[in-house]
Amino acid sequence: MRVTVFGTGYVGLVTGTCLAEVGNQVVCVDIDAAKVEGLNRGVIPIYEPGLEDMVLANHGAGRIAFTTDATSAIAHGEIIFIAVGTPPDEDGSADLQYVLAVARTIGQNLGKRAVIVNKSTVPVGTADKVRATVAAELAKRGADVPFEVVSNPEFLKEGDAVKDCMRPDRIVVGSSSPSALEAMKRLYAPFNRNHERIVAMDVRSAELTKYAANAMLATKISFMNEMANIAERVGADIEMVRHGIGSDPRIGYSFIYPGAGYGGSCFPKDVQALERTARQHGYHAQILEAVEAVNDRQKHKLFELIARHFRGELRGRTFAVWGLAFKPNTDDMREASSRTLLAQLWEAGAQVRAHDPEASEEAQRIFGERADLVLCDSAASALKGADALVVVTEWKKFLNPDFDQLKAALKHPVVFDGRNIYEPAEVEAAGLAYYGIGRGR
Ligand code: UGA
Repeated sequence: MRVTVFGTGYVGLVTGTCLAEVGNQVVCVDIDAAKVEGLNRGVIPIYEPGLEDMVLANHGAGRIAFTTDATSAIAHGEIIFIAVGTPPDEDGSADLQYVLAVARTIGQNLGKRAVIVNKSTVPVGTADKVRATVAAELAKRGADVPFEVVSNPEFLKEGDAVKDCMRPDRIVVGSSSPSALEAMKRLYAPFNRNHERIVAMDVRSAELTKYAANAMLATKISFMNEMANIAERVGADIEMVRHGIGSDPRIGYSFIYPGAGYGGSCFPKDVQALERTARQHGYHAQILEAVEAVNDRQKHKLFELIARHFRGELRGRTFAVWGLAFKPNTDDMREASSRTLLAQLWEAGAQVRAHDPEASEEAQRIFGERADLVLCDSAASALKGADALVVVTEWKKFLNPDFDQLKAALKHPVVFDGRNIYEPAEVEAAGLAYYGIGRGR
């Protein structure tokens, strides 16, 4: 099929590429000329396992093109995805200006029947706004072009996005038109071969499904962080508790890992936006509010442990920080717990030597040159001259360090494990002090 994708950010680029991979003709549009020019030269703006090869192969085969020319892109697509950003505005609601700007452009240019698909995470009611915006632009130029607006939220995880897109566990399609649903079924047929993955519903339910999924996952994490904080106080080990409850299939093992708080571009933004939506409809969403508050507090947890261990004397100390990205396998540092920690360490007069396998460039961009930050190109070099080690992101390469070497490298043999990746007894056996999340030490 002929597909147009507005937005070559994370969602747009992955979606467009996967749709090209299964044989569609895809045109991706972005207003950022430098990004489009880069993509046409094979420069992929984000780090995502498997994506680069797939973009290059499909671009080489002529199945995916990148352009800034919205007019020709709209003429191309029988299905037009809107996959542009919805950053939080000042009060935490999703800012729809980019989505609606695309809707206006579509209305100004649409010349033949098309299905317009909202892929961006947008508040309930946005599809109606997109429909009204397109219709208003068509009316202005006296054009009578049939179109439908569908909600098809994405459930990609950064770091697993290509896999999630190629093998989705569900494809949520919200539409009010049988013909639009048919078109979406045809588009997704290659991803839907062995069993039915399309969950068809009305538009508003699809819009809410996306928020409900992220809010539920964020709730599981904040709940576990709350349990970890209780465990710590009552002398229990949250890792034992995690195993104990995860074995109940009604609870399950996934997304119950306590840690230094959730980050990224989705959970913080979506929990907040859903809470604002509820408020706008006169409802006080107490669970969502608590999920957010617990997470904000949790992001300060590592610093509290560090300050406690060093009795508040942090000025002039140096901390090795392993992991800056908000989770492994990405270079994304949006809302990352590392940012809260670094800000607090700097505020207390400490120095940071940080290593992240992918996020150094991003860290450089965010923090610029500062005397109290050294970005190191290996985990070992981050330890040089450091008082202590703090693990913030559970990259695989941090999972199994030589604790004897660690002890020898650190001035104060202590490890702060923000993701509970080490066995306390093993670390302590090597003569290091250990602090984890909810582990009683
Ligand atoms: C999340 C959802 O998992 C995706 O399904 C969704 O499509 C996406 O948001 C989105 O809305 O676009 P993502 O933000 O990439 O995906 O990352 P996750 O793997 O969900 O992790 C989010 C944060 O939660 C990370 O900071 C991670 O460290 C933390 N986390 C995760 C925990 O602290 N504990 C856990 O048990 C799991």
